[in-house]
Amino acid sequence: MRQINRIAISTGGGDAPGLNAVIRSATLASRNRGWDVVGIRDGFNGLLFPENYPHGGVVPLDRESVRGISHLGGTIIGSTNRGNPTAFPVEQPDGSWVEVDRTDELLARFDEHGIDALITVGGDGSLTIGNHLYRHGLRVIGVPKTIDNDLDKTTATFGFDTAVDFATECIDRLFVTATSHGRVIVVEVMGRYAGWIALHSGMAAGAHCVLIPEIPYELGPVAATIRQREERGARFSIVVVAEGAVPVEGTVSVKGKAIGQAEQLGGIGATVAAELEELTGKEARTVVLGHLLRGGSPTALDRLLGLRFGAAAVRALEEGHDGVMVALNPPTVTYVPLAEATDKMKTVPPDCDTIRTARDLGINFGDRMP
Ligand code: F6P
Repeated sequence: MRQINRIAISTGGGDAPGLNAVIRSATLASRNRGWDVVGIRDGFNGLLFPENYPHGGVVPLDRESVRGISHLGGTIIGSTNRGNPTAFPVEQPDGSWVEVDRTDELLARFDEHGIDALITVGGDGSLTIGNHLYRHGLRVIGVPKTIDNDLDKTTATFGFDTAVDFATECIDRLFVTATSHGRVIVVEVMGRYAGWIALHSGMAAGAHCVLIPEIPYELGPVAATIRQREERGARFSIVVVAEGAVPVEGTVSVKGKAIGQAEQLGGIGATVAAELEELTGKEARTVVLGHLLRGGSPTALDRLLGLRFGAAAVRALEEGHDGVMVALNPPTVTYVPLAEATDKMKTVPPDCDTIRTARDLGINFGDRMP
């Protein structure tokens, strides 16, 4: 196996609090082994478009550059959710787009920079690209990242706890104004096709209805809950809606899809609020938390997970692992083949104890009358 002198770190997809902790940990663990470390700018764009960046699109990472970054949200080396090197969108003279495979070009750039191995930090997209590069001969270790908590092969990903914590704080604040005005407030949260953020923050904050993709909803039961609360003297209600929630007879609410990007979900909160106004006659407002959930300082839990994953990725390289993703399997961090890392999405099991607990608390999921 090729001896390691220099490794690269890449962060891809949507940013998640805890990425900088991974960068710090992987950098220090590598430096302590005498390895040189660089960060690739903006996913793989630094290597694909070196002319747009200083130092040919890579950032030298040393003790100084990673000092005091674990508590910072975002990623110091940048990220992108555009520009999959295996299907890179290129505009044609006639305005149409074709997808070009830039794998060989990218691998050549790794060689030019003397990079012996890659730590790719990302969600399903970046991990799939990582597996592709591994199959084409690059040494690759994946680190799972997503605020959505939807990767099945790891018990947890950093970013989720921070997102849930902040969403909970926001919903707490919305209780105040909802109570003062006797309104319905519909809070839309991210999560793509998984309802984890909505479920956990909605329960933690004490929302009255939670709509998640895993349980198709009807608004009749939601309106009934709101009316029933009114009858009991509670003039306000909080409804948390996951961006990927789907009505029983309908489809997920898509805002759009840019070339080379996944479809952008959103808009369901406004639809639900308008329909609830009609059904209940009560004033309803919508708040979309959106990208706010990706910002801010990572919680201690997410920092620790990021630090554990970053160092585990370096140990994986030292121990000779290749083509694997580090994964939390409490109480330890283990390795799973990258080929299997993204084969299944982790969604909320509709009969799990958290859902059952929510039902015991009287939270309505839009599937049963209260
Ligand atoms: O996967 C993380 C995530 O924040 C999702 O929850 C959300 O749907 C998506 O990314 C938004 O991505 P973008 O940054 O492209 O709007």
